[in-house]
Amino acid sequence: MYPALTHSHSGLRWILLILLILTIVSVFGKRNGQTPFTEGDRKLSLFTLIAAHLQAVLGLGLYFMSVKVEFSSNTMSNSVFRFFTVEHTVMMLIAIILITLGYGHAKKGNAKRVFLFYLIALLVILVAIPWPFRELGAGWM
Ligand code: HEM
Repeated sequence: MYPALTHSHSGLRWILLILLILTIVSVFGKRNGQTPFTEGDRKLSLFTLIAAHLQAVLGLGLYFMSVKVEFSSNTMSNSVFRFFTVEHTVMMLIAIILITLGYGHAKKGNAKRVFLFYLIALLVILVAIPWPFRELGAGWM
């Protein structure tokens, strides 16, 4: 169960990143309001929202199982424990709230706000991903 959840959570990152980038690129030229925000744009923002929420559900499941989440006097002095117990989780929750707020703007057809909220969420996610070169014991897939 734990390895399957870790692999799903790790793999779903790529789907979420691709959907976020597609949405941002798609609404970029519509920010001035002259090109209309389409039903396709709304659906793309919705799929991004669904992927983000699914990732949060898997992540919260992992939070209670992971060997990298620990509450002890060691938590803040150990870089792996600190990252997964606090930094990764808090930053990802902020990013998911931003995507949720962004989708609220997609429903109203406000391309400028969708662009802004999804772009900030993407930047937060890129910073909070445990990329292999950060040596936090995580892989590419
Ligand atoms: C509220 C949301 C989230 C929570 C609570 C959460 C929690 C966790 C936890 C506890 C782990 C450690 C798993 C382990 O034991 O190895 C983990 C790993 C990871 N998380 Fe998240 N996560 C969240 C959102 C995200 C998002 C949005 C992404 C990327 C788009 C992401 C990408 C990853 C990656 C790549 C790993 C490393 C998996 C590996 O070991 O290969 N997480 N997450």
